[in-house]
Amino acid sequence: MHQLNDKCPWHAEAIHAAWKIEMSRRLEKKHPDKFPTLPEIPAARYVCQDFFALEKTFLWTRTWLLVAHLGELPQPGSYKAFDVIGKPVLAVRDQNGDVGVFFNSCKHRGARLVQDDKGITSRLNCPYHAWSYDLGGTLKYCPDDYDFPALSKCQKNLTKIRSATLGNLLFICFDNNAKSLDCHLGAMKDMISDVPWSETRLYQTRHFDVDCNWKFIHDAFSETYHVSYVHPKSVNAAINRTYTARLMLRNGHNAMYVKNRADEKEMASHNVFDQGGIDQSVKLQPITKEGQRSYNIFPNITVPVAENLSVIMVLWPLASNKTKIALYYIKVDPDSPIDTDVDRATVNAFNQITQEDINALRGIHEATAGSGIISFVVGYGEQFIYNYHREIDNIIGADNIPQALRVAQVELPLI
Ligand code: FES
Ligand SMILES: [Fe+2]
Repeated sequence: MHQLNDKCPWHAEAIHAAWKIEMSRRLEKKHPDKFPTLPEIPAARYVCQDFFALEKTFLWTRTWLLVAHLGELPQPGSYKAFDVIGKPVLAVRDQNGDVGVFFNSCKHRGARLVQDDKGITSRLNCPYHAWSYDLGGTLKYCPDDYDFPALSKCQKNLTKIRSATLGNLLFICFDNNAKSLDCHLGAMKDMISDVPWSETRLYQTRHFDVDCNWKFIHDAFSETYHVSYVHPKSVNAAINRTYTARLMLRNGHNAMYVKNRADEKEMASHNVFDQGGIDQSVKLQPITKEGQRSYNIFPNITVPVAENLSVIMVLWPLASNKTKIALYYIKVDPDSPIDTDVDRATVNAFNQITQEDINALRGIHEATAGSGIISFVVGYGEQFIYNYHREIDNIIGADNIPQALRVAQVELPLI
Protein backbone atom coordinates (compact mmCIF):
# COMPACT_ATOMS: atom_id res chain seq x y z
CA MET A 1 0.00 0.00 0.00
CA HIS A 2 1.33 3.40 -0.95
CA GLN A 3 0.99 6.10 1.66
CA LEU A 4 0.75 9.73 0.86
CA ASN A 5 4.01 11.35 1.84
CA ASP A 6 3.61 13.02 5.25
CA LYS A 7 5.05 16.16 3.80
CA CYS A 8 2.29 16.43 1.23
CA PRO A 9 0.97 19.93 1.72
CA TRP A 10 -2.52 19.08 0.60
CA HIS A 11 -4.37 16.46 2.59
CA ALA A 12 -8.06 15.53 2.62
CA GLU A 13 -8.99 17.98 5.38
CA ALA A 14 -7.49 20.89 3.49
CA ILE A 15 -9.26 19.86 0.32
CA HIS A 16 -12.62 19.54 2.11
CA ALA A 17 -12.10 22.98 3.59
CA ALA A 18 -11.22 24.43 0.18
CA TRP A 19 -14.36 22.86 -1.31
CA LYS A 20 -16.48 24.46 1.38
CA ILE A 21 -14.94 27.89 0.93
CA GLU A 22 -15.35 27.70 -2.84
CA MET A 23 -18.98 26.63 -2.52
CA SER A 24 -19.79 29.53 -0.16
CA ARG A 25 -18.05 32.14 -2.25
CA ARG A 26 -19.90 30.97 -5.35
CA LEU A 27 -23.19 31.14 -3.44
CA GLU A 28 -22.32 34.68 -2.37
CA LYS A 29 -21.01 35.43 -5.88
CA LYS A 30 -17.86 36.89 -4.42
CA HIS A 31 -14.25 37.13 -5.61
CA PRO A 32 -11.95 36.05 -2.76
CA ASP A 33 -10.83 39.21 -0.93
CA LYS A 34 -7.23 38.29 -0.53
CA PHE A 35 -6.62 36.82 -3.94
CA PRO A 36 -4.88 39.17 -6.38
CA THR A 37 -6.65 40.40 -9.49
CA LEU A 38 -4.76 38.68 -12.24
CA PRO A 39 -3.25 40.67 -15.11
CA GLU A 40 -4.48 40.10 -18.64
CA ILE A 41 -2.42 37.83 -20.88
CA PRO A 42 -1.27 39.21 -24.25
CA ALA A 43 -3.05 37.25 -26.96
CA ALA A 44 0.03 37.46 -29.18
CA ARG A 45 1.71 34.95 -26.85
CA TYR A 46 -0.58 32.39 -28.46
CA VAL A 47 -0.53 33.45 -32.08
CA CYS A 48 2.58 35.42 -32.99
CA GLN A 49 5.62 33.77 -34.51
CA ASP A 50 7.97 35.84 -32.36
CA PHE A 51 6.67 34.31 -29.17
CA PHE A 52 6.70 30.85 -30.68
CA ALA A 53 10.37 31.43 -31.56
CA LEU A 54 11.12 32.61 -28.01
CA GLU A 55 9.52 29.46 -26.58
CA LYS A 56 11.48 27.33 -29.02
CA THR A 57 14.78 28.93 -28.13
CA PHE A 58 14.45 29.53 -24.42
CA LEU A 59 11.60 27.45 -22.97
CA TRP A 60 11.65 23.99 -24.50
CA THR A 61 15.44 23.85 -24.33
CA ARG A 62 15.61 24.69 -20.63
CA THR A 63 12.93 22.71 -18.88
CA TRP A 64 12.15 19.05 -18.20
CA LEU A 65 10.03 17.27 -20.80
CA LEU A 66 8.21 13.97 -20.52
CA VAL A 67 9.11 11.92 -23.59
CA ALA A 68 8.23 8.29 -22.86
CA HIS A 69 6.80 5.70 -20.54
CA LEU A 70 9.46 3.04 -19.98
CA GLY A 71 6.88 0.46 -21.03
CA GLU A 72 7.64 1.67 -24.56
CA LEU A 73 11.19 0.33 -24.12
CA PRO A 74 10.47 -3.13 -22.71
CA GLN A 75 13.75 -4.96 -23.38
CA PRO A 76 17.44 -4.42 -24.26
CA GLY A 77 17.57 -2.96 -27.75
CA SER A 78 14.10 -1.37 -27.62
CA TYR A 79 14.16 2.17 -28.91
CA LYS A 80 11.84 5.10 -29.49
CA ALA A 81 12.74 7.91 -31.89
CA PHE A 82 10.89 11.20 -32.01
CA ASP A 83 11.37 14.90 -32.58
CA VAL A 84 11.12 17.35 -29.72
CA ILE A 85 10.59 20.89 -30.98
CA GLY A 86 12.70 20.24 -34.04
CA LYS A 87 15.38 18.21 -32.26
CA PRO A 88 15.81 14.54 -33.21
CA VAL A 89 15.82 12.38 -30.09
CA LEU A 90 16.45 8.68 -29.58
CA ALA A 91 15.74 6.79 -26.36
CA VAL A 92 17.19 3.29 -26.21
CA ARG A 93 17.49 0.54 -23.61
CA ASP A 94 20.98 -0.93 -23.48
CA GLN A 95 22.15 -4.48 -22.71
CA ASN A 96 22.23 -3.74 -18.97
CA GLY A 97 18.64 -2.57 -19.02
CA ASP A 98 19.53 1.10 -18.60
CA VAL A 99 17.81 3.67 -20.77
CA GLY A 100 19.94 6.33 -22.47
CA VAL A 101 18.77 9.27 -24.53
CA PHE A 102 20.78 10.64 -27.45
CA PHE A 103 20.47 12.98 -30.37
CA ASN A 104 19.27 10.82 -33.23
CA SER A 105 21.96 12.07 -35.56
CA CYS A 106 25.03 10.22 -36.76
CA LYS A 107 28.33 11.76 -35.71
CA HIS A 108 29.84 11.19 -39.16
CA ARG A 109 27.78 13.57 -41.27
CA GLY A 110 24.59 14.01 -39.33
CA ALA A 111 22.24 11.47 -40.90
CA ARG A 112 19.16 10.48 -38.95
CA LEU A 113 20.48 7.34 -37.34
CA VAL A 114 17.24 5.57 -36.52
CA GLN A 115 14.49 6.22 -39.00
CA ASP A 116 11.57 4.22 -37.56
CA ASP A 117 9.53 5.60 -34.66
CA LYS A 118 10.16 2.52 -32.58
CA GLY A 119 11.63 -0.94 -32.79
CA ILE A 120 14.24 -3.27 -31.45
CA THR A 121 17.85 -3.62 -32.55
CA SER A 122 21.18 -4.93 -31.32
CA ARG A 123 23.19 -2.07 -32.87
CA LEU A 124 22.46 1.45 -34.04
CA ASN A 125 23.55 1.37 -37.68
CA CYS A 126 23.63 4.53 -39.76
CA PRO A 127 21.85 4.07 -43.11
CA TYR A 128 24.28 6.43 -44.91
CA HIS A 129 27.87 5.11 -44.56
CA ALA A 130 27.17 2.35 -42.05
CA TRP A 131 28.87 3.75 -38.99
CA SER A 132 27.67 1.58 -36.15
CA TYR A 133 27.07 2.38 -32.48
CA ASP A 134 26.31 0.08 -29.59
CA LEU A 135 23.17 0.53 -27.49
CA GLY A 136 25.07 2.81 -25.15
CA GLY A 137 25.89 5.19 -28.03
CA THR A 138 29.57 4.19 -28.34
CA LEU A 139 30.95 4.20 -31.87
CA LYS A 140 32.03 0.64 -32.61
CA TYR A 141 32.56 0.39 -36.33
CA CYS A 142 33.48 2.76 -39.12
CA PRO A 143 34.01 1.29 -42.61
CA ASP A 144 37.44 2.10 -44.12
CA ASP A 145 38.58 3.66 -40.89
CA TYR A 146 42.15 3.76 -42.23
CA ASP A 147 40.91 6.59 -44.50
CA PHE A 148 40.36 8.82 -41.44
CA PRO A 149 43.85 9.19 -39.93
CA ALA A 150 42.70 11.92 -37.56
CA LEU A 151 39.59 10.10 -36.38
CA SER A 152 39.43 9.52 -32.68
CA LYS A 153 36.53 7.10 -32.41
CA CYS A 154 35.87 7.86 -28.77
CA GLN A 155 35.15 11.48 -29.69
CA LYS A 156 32.47 10.40 -32.12
CA ASN A 157 30.14 8.63 -29.71
CA LEU A 158 26.51 9.72 -29.88
CA THR A 159 25.75 12.90 -27.98
CA LYS A 160 23.84 12.16 -24.80
CA ILE A 161 20.84 14.17 -23.70
CA ARG A 162 20.29 14.62 -19.98
CA SER A 163 17.52 12.36 -18.71
CA ALA A 164 15.85 11.43 -15.42
CA THR A 165 12.87 9.38 -14.38
CA LEU A 166 9.85 9.64 -12.15
CA GLY A 167 9.15 5.94 -11.75
CA ASN A 168 8.44 4.70 -15.26
CA LEU A 169 8.16 8.16 -16.74
CA LEU A 170 11.19 9.27 -18.74
CA PHE A 171 12.00 12.97 -18.84
CA ILE A 172 14.72 14.81 -20.74
CA CYS A 173 16.23 18.26 -20.45
CA PHE A 174 18.45 19.82 -23.13
CA ASP A 175 20.03 22.15 -20.57
CA ASN A 176 22.82 20.58 -18.53
CA ASN A 177 22.75 23.54 -16.16
CA ALA A 178 19.04 23.39 -15.41
CA LYS A 179 17.95 22.27 -11.94
CA SER A 180 17.31 18.56 -11.40
CA LEU A 181 13.98 16.93 -12.25
CA ASP A 182 13.30 16.55 -8.51
CA CYS A 183 13.84 20.27 -7.96
CA HIS A 184 11.70 21.10 -10.97
CA LEU A 185 8.82 18.95 -9.69
CA GLY A 186 9.18 20.37 -6.17
CA ALA A 187 5.95 20.04 -4.17
CA MET A 188 4.29 18.33 -7.15
CA LYS A 189 6.31 15.24 -6.34
CA ASP A 190 4.66 15.01 -2.92
CA MET A 191 1.24 15.75 -4.37
CA ILE A 192 1.41 12.64 -6.53
CA SER A 193 3.64 10.51 -4.32
CA ASP A 194 0.85 8.03 -3.58
CA VAL A 195 0.81 6.94 -7.24
CA PRO A 196 3.19 3.96 -7.61
CA TRP A 197 4.93 5.44 -10.65
CA SER A 198 7.56 2.69 -10.86
CA GLU A 199 4.89 0.03 -11.14
CA THR A 200 2.58 1.70 -13.61
CA ARG A 201 2.04 -0.25 -16.81
CA LEU A 202 1.50 1.34 -20.16
CA TYR A 203 -1.86 0.29 -21.56
CA GLN A 204 -2.21 2.42 -24.68
CA THR A 205 -0.79 5.46 -26.38
CA ARG A 206 -2.58 7.69 -28.80
CA HIS A 207 -1.53 10.84 -30.59
CA PHE A 208 -3.13 13.26 -33.00
CA ASP A 209 -2.67 16.82 -34.22
CA VAL A 210 -4.83 19.81 -33.46
CA ASP A 211 -4.76 23.09 -35.40
CA CYS A 212 -4.05 25.63 -32.69
CA ASN A 213 -1.30 26.81 -30.40
CA TRP A 214 -0.43 24.36 -27.61
CA LYS A 215 -1.43 26.84 -24.90
CA PHE A 216 -5.05 27.03 -26.09
CA ILE A 217 -5.28 23.29 -25.36
CA HIS A 218 -3.35 23.49 -22.10
CA ASP A 219 -5.77 26.17 -20.89
CA ALA A 220 -8.75 23.87 -21.46
CA PHE A 221 -7.15 21.40 -19.05
CA SER A 222 -6.32 24.09 -16.49
CA GLU A 223 -9.79 25.23 -15.45
CA THR A 224 -13.31 23.94 -14.80
CA TYR A 225 -15.03 27.15 -15.95
CA HIS A 226 -15.91 25.54 -19.30
CA VAL A 227 -17.00 22.17 -17.95
CA SER A 228 -20.78 22.60 -17.80
CA TYR A 229 -20.86 24.20 -21.29
CA VAL A 230 -18.42 21.98 -23.18
CA HIS A 231 -18.93 18.71 -21.32
CA PRO A 232 -22.55 18.87 -20.11
CA LYS A 233 -23.15 15.12 -20.26
CA SER A 234 -19.64 13.79 -19.60
CA VAL A 235 -17.39 15.61 -17.12
CA ASN A 236 -20.21 17.74 -15.77
CA ALA A 237 -22.31 14.68 -14.98
CA ALA A 238 -19.47 13.28 -12.90
CA ILE A 239 -18.05 16.25 -11.02
CA ASN A 240 -19.45 19.42 -9.51
CA ARG A 241 -17.25 22.41 -10.25
CA THR A 242 -18.88 24.38 -7.46
CA TYR A 243 -16.57 22.30 -5.29
CA THR A 244 -13.24 22.96 -6.96
CA ALA A 245 -10.12 23.08 -4.80
CA ARG A 246 -7.16 24.73 -6.53
CA LEU A 247 -3.57 25.04 -5.56
CA MET A 248 -0.85 26.79 -7.52
CA LEU A 249 2.64 25.44 -7.01
CA ARG A 250 6.05 26.93 -7.62
CA ASN A 251 7.68 26.32 -11.02
CA GLY A 252 4.36 26.71 -12.84
CA HIS A 253 2.66 23.50 -11.67
CA ASN A 254 -0.98 23.32 -10.58
CA ALA A 255 -3.16 20.92 -8.62
CA MET A 256 -6.94 20.66 -8.76
CA TYR A 257 -9.43 18.45 -6.90
CA VAL A 258 -13.10 18.60 -7.93
CA LYS A 259 -15.79 16.86 -5.91
CA ASN A 260 -17.79 14.02 -7.39
CA ARG A 261 -21.50 14.67 -7.83
CA ALA A 262 -22.50 11.34 -6.41
CA ASP A 263 -21.28 9.30 -3.51
CA GLU A 264 -18.60 6.71 -3.96
CA LYS A 265 -20.92 3.84 -4.92
CA GLU A 266 -22.95 5.76 -7.43
CA MET A 267 -19.76 7.14 -8.90
CA ALA A 268 -19.01 3.84 -10.53
CA SER A 269 -21.63 4.47 -13.18
CA HIS A 270 -20.68 7.93 -14.33
CA ASN A 271 -17.27 8.98 -13.16
CA VAL A 272 -15.21 10.66 -15.84
CA PHE A 273 -12.73 7.86 -15.14
CA ASP A 274 -15.22 5.10 -14.67
CA GLN A 275 -13.65 2.75 -12.18
CA GLY A 276 -16.54 0.36 -12.55
CA GLY A 277 -16.82 0.07 -8.79
CA ILE A 278 -13.83 -2.25 -8.70
CA ASP A 279 -11.77 -1.86 -5.57
CA GLN A 280 -8.12 -1.69 -6.58
CA SER A 281 -5.36 -3.16 -4.45
CA VAL A 282 -3.36 0.00 -4.80
CA LYS A 283 -4.56 2.64 -2.36
CA LEU A 284 -4.24 6.20 -3.52
CA GLN A 285 -5.10 9.19 -1.37
CA PRO A 286 -8.65 8.54 -0.08
CA ILE A 287 -9.68 11.79 -1.70
CA THR A 288 -9.29 10.01 -5.05
CA LYS A 289 -12.65 8.33 -4.40
CA GLU A 290 -14.35 11.61 -3.51
CA GLY A 291 -13.43 13.61 -6.54
CA GLN A 292 -11.34 13.97 -9.64
CA ARG A 293 -7.69 14.89 -9.09
CA SER A 294 -5.92 16.60 -11.94
CA TYR A 295 -2.46 18.11 -12.15
CA ASN A 296 -0.71 20.35 -14.62
CA ILE A 297 3.00 19.64 -14.59
CA PHE A 298 4.87 22.52 -16.17
CA PRO A 299 5.09 23.16 -19.00
CA ASN A 300 2.95 20.82 -21.13
CA ILE A 301 1.59 17.90 -19.08
CA THR A 302 -1.85 17.23 -17.60
CA VAL A 303 -2.45 14.19 -15.40
CA PRO A 304 -5.94 13.32 -14.22
CA VAL A 305 -5.26 10.61 -11.63
CA ALA A 306 -7.55 7.64 -11.04
CA GLU A 307 -7.06 4.35 -9.22
CA ASN A 308 -7.40 2.04 -12.16
CA LEU A 309 -6.46 3.85 -15.34
CA SER A 310 -4.85 7.28 -15.36
CA VAL A 311 -4.13 9.44 -18.34
CA ILE A 312 -1.06 11.50 -19.02
CA MET A 313 -1.54 14.13 -21.69
CA VAL A 314 1.50 15.81 -23.20
CA LEU A 315 1.26 18.70 -25.67
CA TRP A 316 3.96 19.15 -28.32
CA PRO A 317 4.07 22.33 -30.39
CA LEU A 318 4.66 21.46 -34.05
CA ALA A 319 4.18 25.06 -35.18
CA SER A 320 2.73 28.22 -33.70
CA ASN A 321 -0.70 27.00 -34.84
CA LYS A 322 -0.27 23.22 -34.68
CA THR A 323 0.03 20.91 -31.68
CA LYS A 324 0.48 17.21 -31.24
CA ILE A 325 -1.48 15.72 -28.35
CA ALA A 326 0.17 12.58 -26.95
CA LEU A 327 -1.94 10.50 -24.58
CA TYR A 328 -0.50 7.76 -22.39
CA TYR A 329 -3.07 5.54 -20.69
CA ILE A 330 -1.42 3.85 -17.72
CA LYS A 331 -2.63 1.14 -15.37
CA VAL A 332 -1.95 2.41 -11.88
CA ASP A 333 -2.56 -0.82 -10.01
CA PRO A 334 0.27 -3.25 -10.80
CA ASP A 335 -1.86 -6.28 -9.97
CA SER A 336 -5.10 -5.56 -11.77
CA PRO A 337 -6.05 -7.26 -15.05
CA ILE A 338 -5.40 -5.22 -18.15
CA ASP A 339 -7.63 -4.44 -21.14
CA THR A 340 -10.82 -4.95 -19.21
CA ASP A 341 -14.21 -3.51 -20.18
CA VAL A 342 -13.54 -0.76 -17.65
CA ASP A 343 -10.18 0.06 -19.28
CA ARG A 344 -11.77 0.29 -22.69
CA ALA A 345 -14.65 2.39 -21.38
CA THR A 346 -12.21 4.76 -19.67
CA VAL A 347 -10.18 5.23 -22.84
CA ASN A 348 -13.34 5.87 -24.84
CA ALA A 349 -14.62 8.31 -22.23
CA PHE A 350 -11.39 10.32 -22.14
CA ASN A 351 -11.10 10.34 -25.92
CA GLN A 352 -14.67 11.64 -26.08
CA ILE A 353 -13.95 14.35 -23.49
CA THR A 354 -10.82 15.44 -25.34
CA GLN A 355 -12.83 15.62 -28.56
CA GLU A 356 -15.40 17.85 -26.84
CA ASP A 357 -12.60 20.24 -25.90
CA ILE A 358 -11.16 20.17 -29.41
CA ASN A 359 -14.58 20.88 -30.89
CA ALA A 360 -14.89 23.93 -28.65
CA LEU A 361 -11.41 25.08 -29.67
CA ARG A 362 -12.05 24.70 -33.40
CA GLY A 363 -10.98 27.88 -35.15
CA ILE A 364 -9.75 29.56 -31.95
CA HIS A 365 -6.28 30.20 -33.33
CA GLU A 366 -7.46 31.97 -36.49
CA ALA A 367 -10.18 33.81 -34.60
CA THR A 368 -7.67 35.15 -32.09
CA ALA A 369 -5.06 36.02 -34.73
CA GLY A 370 -7.55 37.60 -37.12
CA SER A 371 -9.62 39.61 -34.67
CA GLY A 372 -6.82 41.75 -33.38
CA ILE A 373 -7.74 40.90 -29.80
CA ILE A 374 -5.02 42.35 -27.58
CA SER A 375 -5.26 40.37 -24.38
CA PHE A 376 -7.21 37.73 -22.50
CA VAL A 377 -8.77 38.47 -19.14
CA VAL A 378 -8.16 35.75 -16.55
CA GLY A 379 -10.77 34.96 -13.92
CA TYR A 380 -10.11 33.60 -10.43
CA GLY A 381 -11.08 30.13 -11.64
CA GLU A 382 -8.52 30.46 -14.43
CA GLN A 383 -5.61 31.23 -12.10
CA PHE A 384 -3.64 28.17 -13.26
CA ILE A 385 -3.38 29.73 -16.71
CA TYR A 386 -1.72 32.80 -15.28
CA ASN A 387 0.58 30.69 -13.10
CA TYR A 388 2.06 28.77 -15.99
CA HIS A 389 2.35 31.87 -18.21
CA ARG A 390 4.22 33.61 -15.43
CA GLU A 391 6.62 30.67 -15.21
CA ILE A 392 7.13 30.70 -18.97
CA ASP A 393 8.42 34.25 -18.60
CA ASN A 394 10.62 33.25 -15.68
CA ILE A 395 12.24 30.55 -17.80
CA ILE A 396 12.56 32.57 -21.00
CA GLY A 397 13.78 35.56 -19.00
CA ALA A 398 11.69 38.73 -19.00
CA ASP A 399 14.56 40.66 -20.62
CA ASN A 400 14.35 38.43 -23.66
CA ILE A 401 10.64 39.15 -24.16
CA PRO A 402 9.38 42.34 -25.84
CA GLN A 403 7.33 44.37 -23.36
CA ALA A 404 4.08 43.87 -25.28
CA LEU A 405 4.42 40.08 -25.04
CA ARG A 406 5.27 39.82 -21.34
CA VAL A 407 2.80 38.99 -18.60
CA ALA A 408 2.79 41.45 -15.75
CA GLN A 409 4.16 39.81 -12.61
CA VAL A 410 1.99 39.69 -9.49
CA GLU A 411 2.66 37.79 -6.31
CA LEU A 412 0.76 34.53 -6.10
CA PRO A 413 -0.06 32.37 -3.09
CA LEU A 414 2.23 29.54 -4.19
CA ILE A 415 3.41 26.53 -2.26
S1 FES B 1 26.29 10.04 -41.86
FE1 FES B 1 26.24 8.27 -40.69
S2 FES B 1 27.77 7.04 -41.45
FE2 FES B 1 27.88 8.83 -42.66
FE1 LIG C 1 -12.51 20.29 -21.10
